[in-house]
Amino acid sequence: MNQMIVIFGASGDLTRRKLVPALYELKRKGRLPANIRVVGFSRTPYSDDAWRDYLQRTTREFVGAKFDPTVWDQFAPCLFYRPGDITDPESFPRLEAAVRELEGEQPTVRVYYLATAPEFYEIAVRHLGIAGMAAEESGPRRIVVEKPFGTNLATARQLNSVLHEVFREHQIFRIDHYLGKETVQNLLVLRFANSIFEPIWNRNYIDHVQITAAEAGTVGTRGAYYDSAGVLRDMFQNHLLQLLTLTAMEAPARFDADFIRDEKVKVLRAITPMRPEEVAEATVRGQYRKYRDEPNVRPHSTTATFAAVRLYVENWRWKGVPFYLRSGKAMECNTTQIVIQFQLPPHMMFATGPRSVKEANRLVIQIQPAEGIQLHFHTKVPDAGMQLRLTDLSFQFRQKFADDMPDAYQRLLLDVMHGDASLFARSDEVELAWGIIDPILEAWEAGQPPLALYEAGEWGPPISEQWMEAQGRRWFNVCPVLP
Ligand code: BG6
Repeated sequence: MNQMIVIFGASGDLTRRKLVPALYELKRKGRLPANIRVVGFSRTPYSDDAWRDYLQRTTREFVGAKFDPTVWDQFAPCLFYRPGDITDPESFPRLEAAVRELEGEQPTVRVYYLATAPEFYEIAVRHLGIAGMAAEESGPRRIVVEKPFGTNLATARQLNSVLHEVFREHQIFRIDHYLGKETVQNLLVLRFANSIFEPIWNRNYIDHVQITAAEAGTVGTRGAYYDSAGVLRDMFQNHLLQLLTLTAMEAPARFDADFIRDEKVKVLRAITPMRPEEVAEATVRGQYRKYRDEPNVRPHSTTATFAAVRLYVENWRWKGVPFYLRSGKAMECNTTQIVIQFQLPPHMMFATGPRSVKEANRLVIQIQPAEGIQLHFHTKVPDAGMQLRLTDLSFQFRQKFADDMPDAYQRLLLDVMHGDASLFARSDEVELAWGIIDPILEAWEAGQPPLALYEAGEWGPPISEQWMEAQGRRWFNVCPVLP
């Protein structure tokens, strides 16, 4: 069937930085369907040629050495631009007519991609509905909704209900670009295509799990958005909770969107949202010094740029095992990693062996920058009596597989075209995630725990280290463990 992607917000950042470079890369690799057309829609009055020229420049910038003018010349003719105003209902029948003309009589899979600012999501969906553009008589109609999906549980529910007035759930694809990352998908393979991990992947052998997404960059030019969002909305509700569900879920019976999402939802349901009085003890809230000097940040802002949160998954597999989630801007380096910290052996006969869980075995799954896995275990130091040392076994994707890791959007765009929602969030998943984050946000807004400042270039505020130490544990602060 023919493919049509209609991008709302075509003159914006996401289109030029992610969507078009991903489509170009798919073309370069021969994976883009031959019969695809992409229509850009936004207010800027481009012609088709002007939009193509602009995207040629920006794509060249974003894909770097992989830019091949010959491939671009084959790709560019599938790009079209139709100006219009998302807030104007009249623009939509015009868009429908223009898209139909391009599609001709052929049945077409049509994908609407909301790459606009989030305040336009609802109006776009309503206008698509009024113009009859969600009806599936002449082929599947799908809608892709970018993050943020709401700003709390109430607004996420509202957005879901507007979407469900116009589209059915199987037509809706909620993006969390972390699910498009190769190593995140590989977590499923590691856990469910190998039998050696499963027997120890539970409370009997695991002391705790750390999930860290550290970014060296500051808020920079995104002050206006970030100051109203903060780290919990920006990173926890979506990316970190997704990583937690994939780490903690049971094996789905089939690699199928609903089978996978059912298991993820069970994990989220097993996390009891915190009571207000628990938040001060179970979370750390930080802000880097100089954050308030960033452009468009309020001078007395108390927005958190760092958070650490302890959650429990209350089921047979995980009862009593803390999941520590941590993320921050202006941290020491860029690294996203999942650390499975195993328990100490039940009895230690070596005098120099590990005495605390901080020195016990761990499995580090590094999501980025270099994708790989490292297992830490004890060995004997040669010719030194019974001296033991923690050493490691490392696996790096880039050593085993020659190709570059693709950007997440390549996989996600292909999946939308194929109608595979496995790597997209379902409505119940998003709402449950907000149900976990909302009570923390509310306690923070009431000032608990106090905001701790940290210097840029550190691993968050010192209190975060003390908080872990007080629980007999230590953050795995290694910048990135695999080079
Ligand atoms: C985005 C957040 O969703 O994810 C950004 O809004 C953050 O603040 C980004 O920097 C991190 O994504 P990645 O792929 O660079 O880890």
